[in-house]
Amino acid sequence: MPCLRCKVYNSRMTQPEIASGIPAVYAERRARLAQLMQRGVAVVPTAPEQARNRDSHYPYRYDSYFYYLTGFPEPEAVLVLVAGDPGRSILFCRDKDAEREIWDGFRYGLDQARAEFRFDESHSISEFGSLLPKLLADQPALHCHLGSDGRWDEHVLRALNSVRAQARTGVTAPAAIYDVRALLDEMRLVKDAHELDIMRRAAQISTDAHRRAMCAVKPGRAEYEIEAELLHEFRRRGAQAPAYTPIVAGGANACVLHYVRNDAVLNAGDLLLVDAGCELDGYAADVTRTYPVSGRFNPAQRDVYQMVLAAQAAAIAAVHPGAAWTAPHDAALRVLAQGLIDFGLCQGSVDKVLEAGDYKRFYMHRTGHWLGLDVHDAGDYKRDGEWRELKPGMVLTVEPGCYIRGGDVPQQFANIGIRIEDDVLVTASGKEVLTHAAPKTVEHVEALMRG
Ligand code: GLY
Ligand code: MN
Ligand code: MN
Repeated sequence: MPCLRCKVYNSRMTQPEIASGIPAVYAERRARLAQLMQRGVAVVPTAPEQARNRDSHYPYRYDSYFYYLTGFPEPEAVLVLVAGDPGRSILFCRDKDAEREIWDGFRYGLDQARAEFRFDESHSISEFGSLLPKLLADQPALHCHLGSDGRWDEHVLRALNSVRAQARTGVTAPAAIYDVRALLDEMRLVKDAHELDIMRRAAQISTDAHRRAMCAVKPGRAEYEIEAELLHEFRRRGAQAPAYTPIVAGGANACVLHYVRNDAVLNAGDLLLVDAGCELDGYAADVTRTYPVSGRFNPAQRDVYQMVLAAQAAAIAAVHPGAAWTAPHDAALRVLAQGLIDFGLCQGSVDKVLEAGDYKRFYMHRTGHWLGLDVHDAGDYKRDGEWRELKPGMVLTVEPGCYIRGGDVPQQFANIGIRIEDDVLVTASGKEVLTHAAPKTVEHVEALMRG
């Protein structure tokens, strides 16, 4: 039976919502990159494990670029991709190790990884140091990313130098080094059908979690109790983790943009801002809803809320193919500026408020970002100095807000913090709001909370 209020099932799902099998899409992406590179070899490592304290590690999360190209979830792995059509892809990964598997569980090992993930070759990660110079020898270009991990940079530069040292034997070293992220960012920016399927499911789990959180809110509960509802819903539905630390911010805490303490008690009469999304099979959802702790907005809260909701509607309306990346932000700003003038919080005309930036005291972030494997996903926002155009397959958040800190503002507005955030896919005919299922009109929110 689903909960009669939030319609979320409390029993275990009959079908796990996590994907099974390794789809061909990763090999297809490697083939595409191998073609785009034109020449040379790409070297893409996954993320290292991170110690938390003494023998404990943070839950492992692979590198997003590596995962995009491989789907391979284990640590201690590197992809080497030789350019061409179809190119050649080589995985370095951990060996099978019966002893370690007793302690840490299954690992693919070289043969199974090669077969299941469709690599042309696989080698032990312990051979990476000695084989990399051979793989770089006589290659015209190296595509990799340098500058984010000093130990990795050293590794690559050592291999390059060892190829250069063979010059007198006639071996040539790559003459050009390219940032492989330039090509990958463009690929990642336009989502394929496999990615969109996961993102729709991540959105569904996240919006169900928000509905469940809305039902759980009442005065006297702590922010972390609401966080627990969200995390429980994410995990029991097969999402591996939250995509980012949830923000569960009651009252004035909502005016702290990156509030993550989530340890205060919720007070009747306050608003609660909840920014939380799950990560499912590597993909993030990013959803914010703001609602009254006691189930009904007071007049000032309702006015500010309606302004943010109208700003969001204007921003979402501005999402369509061919629109500039800034169109949703510009549309939201005009609504917010007018609202702030109407409330007496800003003075003058809309154009003056926008030009002088007076609104920034109450709205200090932009209206969205790309969304995908990373919550703030890969991809340039400008091309050749111009804001880029939206294209079908891009996914962005639309998240205007208004944060009115106490102080010299009319009392009724003090400490109101509101953000409304949805995940929006650009489609050929306009857009699809992936996270529409989380209530956001005043009527829907109040009805859900009333039960
Ligand atoms: N939750 C992070 C963001 O909204 O950008
Ligand atoms: Mn966001
Ligand atoms: Mn967010």
